[in-house]
Amino acid sequence: MSSLVIVGAQWGDEGKGKVVDLFAAHADVVVRFQGGNNAGHTLVVGNERTIVHLMPAGVLHAQATCVIGNGVVIDPAVLCGEIDELRRRGYLADPAQLKIDERAHLILPVHRAIDVASEEQAGAGRIGTTGRGIGPCYEDKMARRGLRVVDLLDPEWFRRRLDALLAVRNPALERLGRPAADADAICRELLAYGERLAPHVTDTSLYLADQVERGRRILFEGAHGSMLDIDHGTYPFVTSSNVVTGAVGTGAGIPPRHVSRVLGISKAYTTRVGGGPFPTELDDEVGAKLREVGVEFGSTTGRPRRCGWFDAVVVRQAARLSGMSGIALTKLDVLSGLPKLKIAVAYECDGKRFERVPAGMRDLESAKPVYEELDGWTEDIGPVRRFEELPAAARRYIARIEELTATPVTLISVGAEREETILLRDPFLV
Ligand code: IMP
Repeated sequence: MSSLVIVGAQWGDEGKGKVVDLFAAHADVVVRFQGGNNAGHTLVVGNERTIVHLMPAGVLHAQATCVIGNGVVIDPAVLCGEIDELRRRGYLADPAQLKIDERAHLILPVHRAIDVASEEQAGAGRIGTTGRGIGPCYEDKMARRGLRVVDLLDPEWFRRRLDALLAVRNPALERLGRPAADADAICRELLAYGERLAPHVTDTSLYLADQVERGRRILFEGAHGSMLDIDHGTYPFVTSSNVVTGAVGTGAGIPPRHVSRVLGISKAYTTRVGGGPFPTELDDEVGAKLREVGVEFGSTTGRPRRCGWFDAVVVRQAARLSGMSGIALTKLDVLSGLPKLKIAVAYECDGKRFERVPAGMRDLESAKPVYEELDGWTEDIGPVRRFEELPAAARRYIARIEELTATPVTLISVGAEREETILLRDPFLV
């Protein structure tokens, strides 16, 4: 069997949706294994733009079974909304195309309320979360009081577990100045969603084991980016799940040895949404140009993204953490027209040189990037489909990224459409 993991190599929003959609055409199964609807994967086909938050981005390909694994946190309202919208557009006609793991945890309205209220209370110290209830849901999972998809199928048990959860969460909500959640209302709402989702609910770990046995091609679709990983990211300005390749094993319920290839997605520059350190951030007209030309606004929250130069320290770290066998370099076209380009090769923090991302937030906040400067190019590269046709300066820029990250660039994206892609090697095979 051949499997491919797609992970973000920066702070999320690297363009994973497009790449997953591209390779899903050759996959039998596409699996989400962590995160929730804090993710937003944009798929552009012709004039149609589809943004999915929970549904695996392979959903536009009818032959690909979509799996939402146990490591994902599911907001049933959002999932049902996405199913309806996709069906309206003619996708997901066969219910068997979507499988939802029975062990996945549920995001409840109370999680969203706590997420938003705690961010408000944190003031300047806030994380800048997406407000979707992700953190509080994972907190309840780890505290062993969470509710799971399987509980939706047993109303009596669901109510019992919900009461136990609210006994802890309602006083917390009231301390945050919010009204307590109403158990009856939650039961009514969630159990109705449960009935709709029931035909899709199964043991997806078992299903995947069978697919592995049959030698099927499996695509694991990561959400967010390495620097948002709860363990390896810029803690505490991170999301609440593991997002690196290692999360595939626990989040999909398969042994890690079934992972054969890892494609890390990185923009040709860097962006970040929410708070936290960002050493190569540009507060000048170059940053503004990147935001404007790259349309850098969050697909989940619409927030303007912070923009900066390519940071080889970050991508090198992601390559090491996730065992990236290749890089898909996206949005290279956005850099066209900039006379000079910079790449951060290291940081200086308080007189010390770092070739890795320091763990200490104070080091990272004071980090001054050590830049290398390269020539830019002026040509519009959107129509280019072959590597050799790229301007020499663009080829040099890519070669330098490969050297600094010790990882080959195997795909280059020069636009949002499927065709606007230069594929150097088949990632399932390389
Ligand atoms: P949360 O995941 O909503 O708790 O947000 C925590 C941090 O992760 C915030 O800085 C968010 O902006 C960021 N974040 C979460 N998901 C994504 C994503 O898919 N792309 C970019 N940033 C994200």
